[in-house]
Amino acid sequence: MIDVSNVRAGYGDGADILNGISLHAAGGEIVTILGPNGCGKSTLLKCIAGFLAPRAGTIAIDGEDVGAVPVHRKVRGYGVGFVPQTDNVFATLSVSENIRLGARHLPRAEREERFDALMRQYPTLAAKQNRKASALSGGERQILSLVRALIAGPKILLLDEPSAGLSPLMMHEVFDAIAGIRDDTGMCIVMVEQNAFEALGIADRAYVLTLGTVAMEGRARDLLADPSMRELYLGGSVAG
Ligand SMILES: Nc1ncnc2c1ncn2[C@@H]1O[C@H](COP(=O)(O)OP(=O)(O)OP(=O)(O)O)[C@@H](O)[C@H]1O
Ligand SMILES: [Mg+2]
Repeated sequence: MIDVSNVRAGYGDGADILNGISLHAAGGEIVTILGPNGCGKSTLLKCIAGFLAPRAGTIAIDGEDVGAVPVHRKVRGYGVGFVPQTDNVFATLSVSENIRLGARHLPRAEREERFDALMRQYPTLAAKQNRKASALSGGERQILSLVRALIAGPKILLLDEPSAGLSPLMMHEVFDAIAGIRDDTGMCIVMVEQNAFEALGIADRAYVLTLGTVAMEGRARDLLADPSMRELYLGGSVAG
């Protein structure tokens, strides 16, 4: 579904942050992107989402080169949903207003139908739909931003650190919701994470980045069992 090939990217006229990255993600799988702070994980996700055009290399969705397609067209034309790392809910709007924002380009009837279906699926959020988003806990906000992406009916879901700042209990709740989305819908999910070992627990495959390149990749269960994974991830550099 997503094919990233030898992508180089950076900001303004600054140096390359991504130094030739290749990645593949298919429908029905969770691919997690791991690596130390500043290695380029969010930059890679922003490239796939269309916030940043690659300087070299290609990004394809279902075989079509979409490297130059801007973010709003990625959402409508290619079914890409993006949940950014920060500022992902509008605190002064209600929960239901936040969710409906994700589907403002859809006809009203379709939007309401999807809204009702999601409220049935996420009853704890439904119970708080009239509250201001500022009154939600961190975990509830993460679920809210997920649901806002889901109401657009994406085929591809890009998640930047969905477990950031959560307690272990809430983290597992959010990860369970993400695994459930994969299992129920067959969506293609690319998830950046700091909680590497927990993320590998729900992911199918993983890429570990260091300094804008792929240092390791493989099946999640193989990486979980690989002793160099722990060393590499926690150490943040590659030997040899
Ligand atoms: N908007 C921007 N303008 C200029 N440089 C940026 C911008 N965003 C990120 N960078 C730089 O790009 C590099 C990679 O940042 P990126 O956000 O992709 O890292 P990351 O792997 O997501 O880190 P973290 O784990 O801390 O979220 C960093 O050196 C960062 O300073
Ligand atoms: Mg980041």
